Amino acid sequence: MNLTLRQLRIFEAVARHLSFTHASKDLHLTQPAVSMQIKQLEEEVGLPLFEQVGKKVFLTEAGKELQGYAATIQATLLEAGQVFDEMRGLERGRLKLSVASTANYFVPKLLAPFCRRYPHVRVSLDVTNRDRLLDELAANETDLVIMGEPPGNMELAAESFMDNPLVAIAPTGHPLQNNRNIPLKRLQEETFLVREKGSGTRSASERFFAEHGAALSAAMEMSSSEAIKQGVEAGLGVGLLSLHTLEMELALKRLVILDVRELPILRKWYIMHRSGKRLSAVARGFKDFVLNEAAHILALPTLPTLPTRR
Ligand code: PGA
Repeated sequence: MNLTLRQLRIFEAVARHLSFTHASKDLHLTQPAVSMQIKQLEEEVGLPLFEQVGKKVFLTEAGKELQGYAATIQATLLEAGQVFDEMRGLERGRLKLSVASTANYFVPKLLAPFCRRYPHVRVSLDVTNRDRLLDELAANETDLVIMGEPPGNMELAAESFMDNPLVAIAPTGHPLQNNRNIPLKRLQEETFLVREKGSGTRSASERFFAEHGAALSAAMEMSSSEAIKQGVEAGLGVGLLSLHTLEMELALKRLVILDVRELPILRKWYIMHRSGKRLSAVARGFKDFVLNEAAHILALPTLPTLPTRR
């Protein structure tokens, strides 16, 4: 069959999203470009790969078959790349790192000293939310993943390397700013700005509220920690975010942390890969670097108001 890897990548994205629009956004291509590639692929296969019923896109039987082959081809190519990375060694290899969007606040601070130590290593960093990270792990599309909680339903080698406390934030001057030991029940009267579904921060917050018999009434949903901080600062409501995202706003006193009795939510950061995965020399090197040095390199903002109990 005469098809290109580019066509397979485009096919894989459309099959994953079951949407031409989302696939084209994901791939940074126009929708007509994506449709054209799929059309050429269908001509090559001689069968339709997708069918549209109403507004929904489905894989045909042939599409499902091709999806299996595309995954195998991508995994084989990745493995070949890892073999060559291994041969190039730690000095000249490539590292494909995927991190939860919240981790973007500290991962560059780890990459900088690592890349200074190994200046010829080439790094690609994918910053995305938890749902996409789970897909990447499942499809073995990345060397290492950093996120807030390993999924329970996958065989993973996951190790924690640093605390990840989630705290409640409010704009400076908020009426609860100087209160101590605020009960969670009081906090639920506030308007909450929450991360999008699929975010680790969001699911940890929802679980935490449910465990404490409280309701997190999400008044507004925002797709990044940055948007939530801006929203809270502008007085739209309060939020629950990782302390790692707050360094600048706390230093500039644009936001305050509310002293809520049941908070912070105590989470950890994990670095992980599929168990049994053959790590390249660079991936092994970076993983060791994170496990041994991250906690020394990265400091959480100092919090005069953060309760030390729990
Ligand atoms: P998030 O991830 O940026 O998707 O909320 C953080 C996490 O995994 O806890």
